[in-house]
Amino acid sequence: MTLIWPKATVLKRIREAARILLKGTGSSAGIRKAFADGHFYSPVVDTEALGRDMARVWPKTAELWGIDFNEAEQRRWLTEILPRHLPDYDYPDEPSFGADESAFHTKNSQFSWLDSRTLFAVLREFRPRRMIEIGSGFSSLLTADVNRRFLGDRLELICIEPYPRPFLRKGVPGISRLIESRVQDVPLDTFTCLEAGDVLFIDSSHVAKTGSDVNFVYFEILPRLQPGVVVHIHDIFFPGDYPKHWLIDLGIHWNEQYLVRAMLMDSHGFEVLFGCAYVLDRFPDLVRQVLGGDLYGGGSLWLRRIGRL
Ligand SMILES: C[S@@+](CC[C@H](N)C(=O)[O-])C[C@H]1O[C@@H](n2cnc3c(N)ncnc32)[C@H](O)[C@@H]1O
Repeated sequence: MTLIWPKATVLKRIREAARILLKGTGSSAGIRKAFADGHFYSPVVDTEALGRDMARVWPKTAELWGIDFNEAEQRRWLTEILPRHLPDYDYPDEPSFGADESAFHTKNSQFSWLDSRTLFAVLREFRPRRMIEIGSGFSSLLTADVNRRFLGDRLELICIEPYPRPFLRKGVPGISRLIESRVQDVPLDTFTCLEAGDVLFIDSSHVAKTGSDVNFVYFEILPRLQPGVVVHIHDIFFPGDYPKHWLIDLGIHWNEQYLVRAMLMDSHGFEVLFGCAYVLDRFPDLVRQVLGGDLYGGGSLWLRRIGRL
């Protein structure tokens, strides 16, 4: 999802969240809960108690100990790689009148601003042979378009999405295969055949819990990846925590980024390439200088597998 939400679009986002919830196994019938939401034994955050912790959870300058954010590389992406490719980023902000619904537009509800621009640049810079996307939709439309227009249709793009939007089901030129299932049900050798320079794109439920897609991704897929595979994780807000208004106003209780943070601490398995939220927080002037105009929101974190754990 996108970080900066003007008030007018908040309702649209809630409807979007409801769409996903209703399509998923969101029914609470038959689920026993020993502890109420917000209880210290519940994964749902007690947002009232958060009031006491505001300054600690959302400090003015957040420090993440134990992670090498590879700032020189992130600056290189800002000053060399993005400027090399972004002059060709020509997607409209809003859907063009009469356009096919599979045509990408930037201000969509899921994957926009700096995230979509960075994906555009990464694909053109690395020219992967294969990309597997876990959680598909607008990001798939952008990737498919880059594949058709800039990669000579040579990218094998595999989308794993249990509840595909109609445009995905219909088929989109540039997408090689839609696996309509939960990632937990996909054989592991689908992922181990990714090679250096290929991309694993993660943007699924964002929730670690017993049996979840997120647990499967971090505990079964990532440790098996070959060195050199480029990994994207969406909705990661380092150096900050999840946005305050997601918790307080929207009631979004995700936890994937805590898992990612623990994984990266003192890590010899992954290196940071670029974090959209990170550069917006740490180098806002440089972002403004390179991209021009307003500051963008973003939550894409790009990593590279550097060895076996
Ligand atoms: C935040 S949306 C992002 C989708 C996409 N990247 C986009 O740009 O539109 C998260 C997606 O994860 C999917 N999802 C939920 N559970 C999943 C699972 N177990 N395996 C794979 N995808 C899942 C949802 O259906 C939803 O489409």
